[in-house]
Amino acid sequence: MMKTITVLPGDGIGPEVTASAVRVLKSIFSTSNRNVQFIEKKIGGAAIDAYGTPLPQETINQCHHSDAILLGAVGGPKWNQQSMQLRPEQGLLGIRKAMGLFANLRPVEAFQALVDASPLKQSFVEQVDFVIVRELTGGLYFGRPSERLGPNQDRVVDTLAYSRQEIQRVVEKAFQLALKRRRKITSIDKANVLESSRMWREVVNETAKRYPEVAVTHQLVDSAAMQLITNPSQFDVLVTENMFGDILSDEASVLTGSLGMMPSASLRADKVGLYEPAHGSAPDIAGQGKANPLATILSAALLLRYSLDMDTEAAQIETAVRQILNQGIHTSDLHVANHEDQIVSTSEMTDHVIHAINANRT
Ligand code: IPM
Ligand code: MN
Repeated sequence: MMKTITVLPGDGIGPEVTASAVRVLKSIFSTSNRNVQFIEKKIGGAAIDAYGTPLPQETINQCHHSDAILLGAVGGPKWNQQSMQLRPEQGLLGIRKAMGLFANLRPVEAFQALVDASPLKQSFVEQVDFVIVRELTGGLYFGRPSERLGPNQDRVVDTLAYSRQEIQRVVEKAFQLALKRRRKITSIDKANVLESSRMWREVVNETAKRYPEVAVTHQLVDSAAMQLITNPSQFDVLVTENMFGDILSDEASVLTGSLGMMPSASLRADKVGLYEPAHGSAPDIAGQGKANPLATILSAALLLRYSLDMDTEAAQIETAVRQILNQGIHTSDLHVANHEDQIVSTSEMTDHVIHAINANRT
């Protein structure tokens, strides 16, 4: 049966890094007899320029008819002056919401070749292997009202709202994931201040009763921010509210050397998912062939694993990326501990990954 992957390159380096990941995927599909079509649509600033909106209906419709979505990045200085409804970021938030992708998984794993690239001591970083499960379609990002108030518009409100069911489904995902890992969940909240966090904690404790094999702890978000730096190897699965997860995942990315290495998967109850690098559109280096495609290539691996049941091929991508980095080959954003460093372009990096995958298969 034919599968459909919709590609949303977006802005800045988005088109370059998604082109890389698509090349890797096409190479894998061609040698594994999979019938997959790729359809490209616009999102973010590119969509504003073409259609006057960051999320055209055509893009939403196409995503609804897809098995998986691969997204690059959105945003750039060109669109910074726009009103809120017309900002590229609204395209990204809009597609997550429209598709109901409530669970955002961000794996944080040490790459041996990159431990020197981390600002933290090697001994802290080597053991790092956890996943952040960030709630993605509720909380502070989507709560209403969110507006200026008063006759002079000099009051402002944002709302952190959740239904019990919205918390339950993402917490459930985290427990399911923990079963496949080291069976340890850290739930992160601000229950000493926020009512939403107290309900979050309740739901986690209720869910925990059905998973006696999973060890659960609660951490306050401020303390967790510190623990991520002082003792990162304690974590296996972290689960948290939308904005806490946004902030902590950028913090966590430096553990493994670079935001340019961090993939993400946004999932719901069925197999449909959206896959994107955790980094932004890096307009300063766009179009120069300098962008690191690995976060998007690793996101493509997650796409194979979660949306297409191709675990073996997903692992082949991950192994190839490790091998290439261990050989000292990398884009200019990384610092690899190797005497024979070789700095390569976006497309050369992609070639290396594809060659390594093919070499490992034969
Ligand atoms: C992310 C990004 C987005 C978010 C922005 C671009 C809206 O920072 O994916 O983490 O805050 O979710
Ligand atoms: Mn973010």
